[in-house]
Amino acid sequence: MNIIEPKVVEPIEWKNGWVRFLDQRLLPHSEKWIETNDWQEIFKSIENLSIRGAPLIGIAAALAIAAEAYRVEYNLDRRSLIIKAVNSLRYARPTAVNLSWAMGKMLDTFNNSSDNDLVFDLEKCALALWQSEKRRCIQIGKFGEKIIPKDAYVLTICNTGALATGGIGTALGVVYTAVSRGKSVEVFASETRPLLQGSRLTAWELKKAGIPVTLIVDSATGWLLSQNAIDLCIIGADRIAANGDTANKIGSYPLAVLCQRHKVPFYIAAPTSTIDPDTPNGAEIPIEHRQKSEVLNFFDLYAVIDDAEVLNPAFDIVPAELITGIITDKGIFKPPYAFRSLSTI
Ligand code: MRU
Repeated sequence: MNIIEPKVVEPIEWKNGWVRFLDQRLLPHSEKWIETNDWQEIFKSIENLSIRGAPLIGIAAALAIAAEAYRVEYNLDRRSLIIKAVNSLRYARPTAVNLSWAMGKMLDTFNNSSDNDLVFDLEKCALALWQSEKRRCIQIGKFGEKIIPKDAYVLTICNTGALATGGIGTALGVVYTAVSRGKSVEVFASETRPLLQGSRLTAWELKKAGIPVTLIVDSATGWLLSQNAIDLCIIGADRIAANGDTANKIGSYPLAVLCQRHKVPFYIAAPTSTIDPDTPNGAEIPIEHRQKSEVLNFFDLYAVIDDAEVLNPAFDIVPAELITGIITDKGIFKPPYAFRSLSTI
């Protein structure tokens, strides 16, 4: 069969010490690019979700360190300035393990590099890390497409495509790969309140790729699953604990419960860089809580009384027992999960 590799959007670029990225807060209405060599601007952009998705925030943080190495190349304090950036970027968001994973790799390189080689070595490490994430997405797609029926209806949440990974994506990477191998796949995208990554980003990305996508509000997933309309659900991950418990976008846990109720297979797709063998189970994964304004404002519309109390957890935990399989770049893992250190890069 003639395999056409998927062609996807590239949300981040690197050139001579400068990072250029697509501001994902403005999609789908505006495609604005920001160019910077300032790690603090990249920190803010990770925090405010201009740059988002577990693998992409790791890549962006690594490029931010490489940019800082360029910027301070002739500064006598360069080592302490670079370390300051590493120690800050590591904590830009707490749930996805990819940030501390990427900063760990950059720190190892930093510690083994001479002053003369610092710029070269850090740039090389950041670019290698990015390429390795791209390769991991391709492998996830190759393993994952095997579980996709010839004519498939796939349910997903949030955005797990090129916009989230800098490669072809994880859960969406599986879809892209299945389509490139001649399968017919239709995606149902849960809109993903409060920040609408499903409707703003996933629908935009799939439309661009020519893959049929139907939007549903998050509360419609139970009804949809009850109609026997879905073959399988595939979502991404921000951190997978050693026992397989998985943190992903808020709403993932109820989706997994509903899939079990309706006997629909429920898969996680994630690179091995998202597996954290040092975190024993989901209870130990830090959950990010975000500002109440994200819930109060439905974009320009102030949606509720302004003194309402709000709880805004950005992620929840899918217990391992609800997960049919975890699709990674090293193959599909089945329960019981017991992740140990998997070499990455
Ligand atoms: O808050 P976000 O938009 O960064 O959340 C992203 C997700 O939850 C994704 O599902 C996850 O990072 C996997 S991306 C391949």
